[in-house]
Amino acid sequence: MSEQKDTVGVIGVGWVGLVTAACFAELGHPVIARDILQEKVDALSKGDVAIHEPGLDDLIRRNAERLTFTTDMDELLGGARLLFVCVDTPPTYSGDADLSRVRAVVQELPEDSDHVLIMKSTVPAGTGESIRRDMPGLSYVSCPEFLKEGTAVKDFMNPDRVVVGADAGDEGAAAAVESLYRPLGGEILRTDVASAEMIKLASNAFLATKISFINEIANVCEEVGADVGQVAKGMGLDERIGTSFLRAGIGYGGSCFPKDVSALKMLAGNTGYHFQLLTAVIEVNELQKRRVVGKLEKHLGSLIGKRVALLGLAFKPDTDDMREASSLVLAARLQGEGAEVVAYDPVASERAAELLGSVEMATSATEALEGADAAVLVTEWGEFAELDWAAAAGRMNRALIVDGRNFLDPKALTEAGFEYEGIGQTVSSPRPAAAS
Ligand code: UGA
Repeated sequence: MSEQKDTVGVIGVGWVGLVTAACFAELGHPVIARDILQEKVDALSKGDVAIHEPGLDDLIRRNAERLTFTTDMDELLGGARLLFVCVDTPPTYSGDADLSRVRAVVQELPEDSDHVLIMKSTVPAGTGESIRRDMPGLSYVSCPEFLKEGTAVKDFMNPDRVVVGADAGDEGAAAAVESLYRPLGGEILRTDVASAEMIKLASNAFLATKISFINEIANVCEEVGADVGQVAKGMGLDERIGTSFLRAGIGYGGSCFPKDVSALKMLAGNTGYHFQLLTAVIEVNELQKRRVVGKLEKHLGSLIGKRVALLGLAFKPDTDDMREASSLVLAARLQGEGAEVVAYDPVASERAAELLGSVEMATSATEALEGADAAVLVTEWGEFAELDWAAAAGRMNRALIVDGRNFLDPKALTEAGFEYEGIGQTVSSPRPAAAS
């Protein structure tokens, strides 16, 4: 007879909650997932997954029998002891994390509960301690989430590490969380709650710092005629540095890095400590998107009346997430300069259209490029590598491209008739023949 696995409770079925619910169901756990939005619960109960995350809808369909979606907190509390909190913690006007949704969940829990509250939402260090103070009867574990959008299912099933933070008295609760993750392999790191909270913020802030660092190196490469791709490779071969997150481009976006870097900066600031490095990381990221305008002006002069095609709108490929996408800033900036902006994204167009009201949406890259004075590759979707660029050059008013992700082959694009601008690379012209 197969062993009955613990029921897992999930509170908040946004992107993190849904991946967590689907993956635990795949591991054989009955899962009860609760959200306050009835439409979302109804759609998920029918197997309709509104977000684009590779492999997720398959997982939900395959494990439908083990997955219950509900709006009823009592149903959740009655059926599951281990409760993963996966509600969002967006930034407030002050840049701090907004904990109102986390607080609302905690208020719904019974005070003498034998439930274990497992915090997956990204919260500032100190949050766990304050929840434990308010609810001394509740077991509390911090288990930060390290999934990447676009590869979340794969990341969940093959974690680099699982961090389980618990304070004195909650050892049993921590052990229960560890045993949920043990079948996945990967190192399980036991820490106290505050350290687990800091690991999450520090990891995202460090990755964002790597990106802003390489973007500044790219900007210097442009000045001195070096190629940032070669520089990043040469740096990354030093195993203390590593090759990942050294792709120069037009900056990081998404629902995590901008919010978490700011939240860590504010967390430090609130204690009286000025985290200077993060101030620079944020500023570099802001300015990086704007450099595209200068690159276009270098070739076109004034952008007034120029038609610019944005290729890719989502904050990165394989997601339809538009939160803090570089495309939003870029579109507004280009329109601010008087350009006419047309845009295309393979999956995010619908979401993008709601945010980019005055931008014309094309239904294909080819349509976006028709008659354009320039193209900007904003998001490195695979299909852009497959495009017939020579044909595209023929249909554009001027075959100029700014490759904001250094994704395309400059030589191939130049041969296809394009004036090519990347980030941190100078497309070399042949050395003049020596005078005889
Ligand atoms: C990020 C972290 O990578 C995850 O570990 C973390 O769990 C997640 O935030 C979170 O806190 O929930 P994600 O936002 O999905 O994941 O995206 P990343 O793949 O990390 O990319 C973030 C941004 O950085 C994208 O805009 C991407 O284009 C940019 N990026 C990434 C670069 O500009 N250069 C690089 O070398 C890498």
